[in-house]
Amino acid sequence: MITAIDMKIFCKKQTTIGNRWTKNNFIIGSDLLANLSQLEIVNRPEVDKFFILTDKTVFRIYGKKMIVSLRKTRKSVIPFILEPGEKEKNINNVMMIINQFIEQGITRKSILLALGGGVMTDIGGFVASIILRGIDYINLPTTLIGQVDAGLGGKTGVNISHEKHMIKNMIGTFKQPTAVISDINALRTLPEKEIKNGLGEIIKYWIGWGKPEVNLLHLGGVSDMAPLELASIISQCQEIKLDVVRNDPFETRHIRDKLNLGHTVGHAIEGISNGRLSHGEAVALGLVAAVKISVLKGFLKEETAGEIINLIRRVGLPTSVNGLDKEKIQEALKFDKKDRTFVLIREIGKIETNVPVESSIINQVLEEIIL
Ligand SMILES: NC(=O)c1ccc[n+]([C@@H]2O[C@H](COP(=O)([O-])OP(=O)(O)OC[C@H]3O[C@@H](n4cnc5c(N)ncnc54)[C@H](O)[C@@H]3O)[C@@H](O)[C@H]2O)c1
Repeated sequence: MITAIDMKIFCKKQTTIGNRWTKNNFIIGSDLLANLSQLEIVNRPEVDKFFILTDKTVFRIYGKKMIVSLRKTRKSVIPFILEPGEKEKNINNVMMIINQFIEQGITRKSILLALGGGVMTDIGGFVASIILRGIDYINLPTTLIGQVDAGLGGKTGVNISHEKHMIKNMIGTFKQPTAVISDINALRTLPEKEIKNGLGEIIKYWIGWGKPEVNLLHLGGVSDMAPLELASIISQCQEIKLDVVRNDPFETRHIRDKLNLGHTVGHAIEGISNGRLSHGEAVALGLVAAVKISVLKGFLKEETAGEIINLIRRVGLPTSVNGLDKEKIQEALKFDKKDRTFVLIREIGKIETNVPVESSIINQVLEEIIL
């Protein structure tokens, strides 16, 4: 079935996550977006229409190629295009998309294709999980963060606005995509800031699981990396996440907590920075905090801590930050006078969840990273 000369598949896996009647497909390759009709998981006889959800930036670069390829299946292709950015992840857009898709004749035989970064795959998965009581969807992540993290795992959802604050992912569902198709060529057009976002998550996997091989990572990220190396990094990250998710698909067994390494302080810093710091930069600072706390708790050797912090610096992510309100971060962490639990590091590849940490240690570490 796969005949296109320019399309390469580096990695193809089928596994079952969450629902034992469904097989989930994970494909990593190059030039996949322009050759979707060649993929069996997309070009299925029972499918009646393709509904694409994407943002303007991604549509401008990849929309046409993708539509041309999908039209080869002789089925209708209906795109819905949002503005790019986190603020689009809201319930009003969900209603707008649903109304539009109903007008365009969506049925339970239709497939929703979520094309773009985590914002599009989160909204797309949510729409697919509620429209007509659930239809198939395929994620086509085009950011590094999407390919190593957001595009897989089955968490879908949107943010809500509450008392003038945005609360992330407050409405959502668990629904696994039928397939995740990661086209590594899409990463070549990603701005450097977005590459760094993904590098933060890749470093998280290395600290927690000892993989992927981070010697391949360097400043500039992935743009000059050989396709096979890049595909291998993405595949190793996907393998780690899928293994965690397979064992805890609905986040009821605390196994998924491991994926939160660096995200406790990271999320607090991201929220307080009000958009000044990207998710990846905030996660990098969160990882530095987890490293420092692990040393102070006697979990981690100073030498390994130095190695991790040097890597974070080497790929161009921050290890400290100035101009943020420490008190607000303490408030966001809600530890007050009590202990707060963290995911801590014993050594590379060995982490421990749910470790209580004294407020004095958290404060000391915040003093070191928030200048
Ligand atoms: N569901 C999950 O498990 C999960 C996990 C992690 C993050 N997320 C969510 O993912 C979102 C963040 O995802 P993101 O970082 O991918 O952000 P994003 O979707 O906002 O994409 C970032 C930017 O990159 C642009 N872009 C995307 N692909 C491009 C390409 N190939 N070339 C050029 N520009 C491109 C987009 O237009 C956008 O401006 C957050 O909402 C977060 O909550 C979800």
